[in-house]
Order: sequence, then structure tokens, then C-alpha cells
Amino acid sequence: MNANISRRTLAKLLSASATASLPALARSQQRAVDSSMPHNAAPEDFTGSAARTFPQGFVWGSATAAYQVEGAVREDGRGLSIWDTFSHTPGKTFEGATGDVSDDFYHLYPKDIALMQELDLKAFRFSVSWTRIFPTGTGQPNQKGIDFYNRLVDALLAAGIQPFCTLYHWDLPQPLQDRGGWENRDTAKAFADYAGFTAGKLADRVHQFMTVNEMLTYVEQGNLTGKHAPGFHLDPKRLAQLAHYVVLGHGMAVQAIRASTPPGTRVGLADNPIPTCPVIEIPEHIEAARKAMREENARFLTVVEEGRYTDLYLKKLGADAPKFTPEDLEIISSPLDFVGINIYQPTYVRADQNEAGYSIVPMPDSYPHMLSPWLSIGPEALYWGPKLAHDLWNIKDIYITENGTSSSDQIAPDGHIYDVDRVMFLRNYLSQLQRAIADGCPIRGYFLWSLLDNFEWSEGYRGRFGITYVDLKAEKRTPKLSAHFYKHVIAANRVV
Ligand code: FCB
Repeated sequence: MNANISRRTLAKLLSASATASLPALARSQQRAVDSSMPHNAAPEDFTGSAARTFPQGFVWGSATAAYQVEGAVREDGRGLSIWDTFSHTPGKTFEGATGDVSDDFYHLYPKDIALMQELDLKAFRFSVSWTRIFPTGTGQPNQKGIDFYNRLVDALLAAGIQPFCTLYHWDLPQPLQDRGGWENRDTAKAFADYAGFTAGKLADRVHQFMTVNEMLTYVEQGNLTGKHAPGFHLDPKRLAQLAHYVVLGHGMAVQAIRASTPPGTRVGLADNPIPTCPVIEIPEHIEAARKAMREENARFLTVVEEGRYTDLYLKKLGADAPKFTPEDLEIISSPLDFVGINIYQPTYVRADQNEAGYSIVPMPDSYPHMLSPWLSIGPEALYWGPKLAHDLWNIKDIYITENGTSSSDQIAPDGHIYDVDRVMFLRNYLSQLQRAIADGCPIRGYFLWSLLDNFEWSEGYRGRFGITYVDLKAEKRTPKLSAHFYKHVIAANRVV
């Protein structure tokens, strides 16, 4: 770094993405500047993005999902979901892992709420297991299942933690799968009925509901690559129709939740739009990233926000395009109170002269990633994702409903887990999140994935995403270095 860099250039650099995403670099520039700064220089020049402060009242949370943490799969009348079937099918998960016991959150949640209090978490995102409420997906509700979520919500509130409730985090009741699952339009209706019923039971205390989690992952990993439950490889036509019923289910659930809850209840979703990032932050690539954000997410967030499929999406599918009615589109785009966005890895985009006006830039083999091979490191995804969603659709309230990383956590001889890679990841991503807020993007909260190590779907227990280490045999919890980092971030309300 040039030690003769001017203060003005430095101030610009510090507010620009590249440096905001690399605190260590920013510090070395700061040193260079310190030595070149006249003694009477005003230090205020270096507040703003360098201070990396979040707005007052920013909601610091963490997230989990029912099948990943609860265990107790046979208890209190719970019925089987597609994840029970899938994880018990030989060869489907790493070392045959299942969610049968996992973190035993079903019994240990008071202990885990104490951990949340220790961090001073403001909010906790959990999901309801559909088959605890309706063991076969529809029909008679199961009071014992409702009681569990009542106990959980009461305990969270007693601890001063706001509950954020997701109604579908991929655990479809097996009997509904047996009737075609999300390929059957009736599943959308069954989901709405369950969502409305459940929200109605909780809404006197829970004020924020999310319909579905990550439509893209569910649709593609579950029904195209077969890596997730139900483990199918559908052709493009069936896949497109299934994706349509998933967004339809979301819209129907929004309406059902509104009909069964008091005014003031806030309804959203937790989606994972592909966060398109300009390869270089100059106008032509930024414009390309904006177009890509809309097109690449045409099946999900775009149709939810706009009430139409893009022309290009329908054209590309041709005869494989889904069948839908204008009424479907109206339901799908039912107004939301907030949009939750899960972001892990970036997708780089460049301007192009083709019909779409952009191209996705493939990652070179050498592109760095975290423990999970899919988790490419790109902190600026947490800037461009929410920013482009806000620019395109004028979303008023955005939450980052998931962000975090796996790490090959080791217990050190002194008993601690020094997950410095997770701290590095979080620090850089949060810096970019702060940059988006400083640029006027209405991001109200951030939910770290995850509070606990847990069942990471087909990866079983090898992809540990928790900021709390879980010894699964002893069900012992040990906060990692990243938990201490997060506690300090929350206390200071800034990146530390
Ligand atoms: C997301 C899922 C969540 C967890 C994280 C690591 O795609 O929503 O359940 O598996 O990835």
C-alpha cells in the first residue's frame, strides 16, 4: 500500500466496498495515513463506515430450524416428514446421520435460551415442525405439538427475546409427499391451512411470521439434484410446475396467516435470492448485476414481488413453462410486511451484449471457500443482495434471516474452540452489511446461522455451523470464539 496516499483518497477508500470488506487492509491504510496526517487533522473524517456502527434498535438474532435441532422425532404425537424418510434411507446423508436426536432442543431449549441470554440476543428465528401440529399434514391438530411451541415462545419472551417463526423449513409431512408433494397443487392449500392455524395459535405472542425458507434450495436440491429430501431428479417441466406451486403455497399462506391473526402481525418469508454482485463496482457491471438479480430469481422473489414471471424466464422455458392463472399471480404477490433474505455466497456478474444484458462469471477453481465447498467467500454479497432487492422492489423492511459459516472446529487443549475462520467470515460480512445500511438500505436485523452446531441436511454433522459447539453424545454446549465475537458485536452495536 502506498504510504503517500492522500487523506482524501483514503477517506474514499475507507467508505468503498473493497476496504470495508477487509478490515485488516483498512487498518494498514490507517497506519499509512496516521504517519502522513498533520497533527491538527480532524479525526471525524474517519468515522462513518470506518466506525462500522449499526442503527439503534437493530435486531441481532440467531436462527435454527426444527428438523436440524429438535430431535424427539417420535415424541408427543409428531408424524413423519420427508426428512425422516430421507435421512433414514441408506446413503443419503453423511455417515447415515439423522435428526432423530440432534441437539435435543425439544427438551433442552431452556438451556439454549440461557445461551441466547448470555449473548444478549434480541431475537430468535425458529421453525415449526408441520408434523408436530398436523401429524399427517392435514386433519386433526395435535395439541401436544402446539403446547411445545407455546412453551418455547413463552420461555423466549420471559427471557426478553423476540420470537420470529418460520412455518416451513423443508420438512413436508410424508403423507403429503405420498400424494405428490409440491407437485400437487393441493399441497399449497394444505400448507396454507396449517400455516394459518399455527400462526393463529401463536400470534397473541409472536408478531413476525415467515411462510417458507429458501425456495430455491428446496426446489433444486430436493427435486433436481436429489441431494435433499425427497431426493428427486425431475425434468424441467415438472420442476417449473413444482416451483410454481411452492410460490403459490407461500402466497396462500400469507393470506391464511393474515386471516387468522390480529392486525399488527407481520408476515414475510425467508428466501435465498441469488445475490448477484458486480465483478467490478463500476456502473456497467452494477447495472448488469441489477438485471441479473431480477432474472436469476424470476421463479421466486421476482414473481413474489412483481406478480409476474419475467418474459425471459417464460421464453427460456418455452413448452416447459409452468401453467398458471392470473389469480395465482395475484395470490403469489400478496403484499408482505418484510422480506427475509438468507445470504451465504456471492454470484459474480458482468455486463454482456446478450439478450439478458449480463453473464454470470464462473468461479475459478482457486476461488476461496469455507469448510463447505459451496460456501465461496464474498462478503460483498451481504451488500449487493439486500441493496439490489431494495432498489428493484422498494422493499421497506429487510432482515438478513440467515448468514454464517461452517468451520472444522477443533477443541484446543485449554477446552476452547478458536474458530478464527468463522470470526474472519462474520467480521467481513457484517462490515458489508453495515455498508448497505450506511447507504440507506432498510435492513432491520441479522440472524446468524446458527446458534448451535446441528444436523446439516445431507452433510449430517460434519458441517458445523454453530457459534456454540455441541458435543452430541453428552449434549454439552460450549460457546466458541465466534460466540464471544458476536456478543461483543451486539454489546457495541458495531463490527468489532
Ligand atoms: C441454508 C439453510 C439452513 C442451513 C444453512 C447452512 O441453506 O436454510 O437450514 O442448512 O443453509
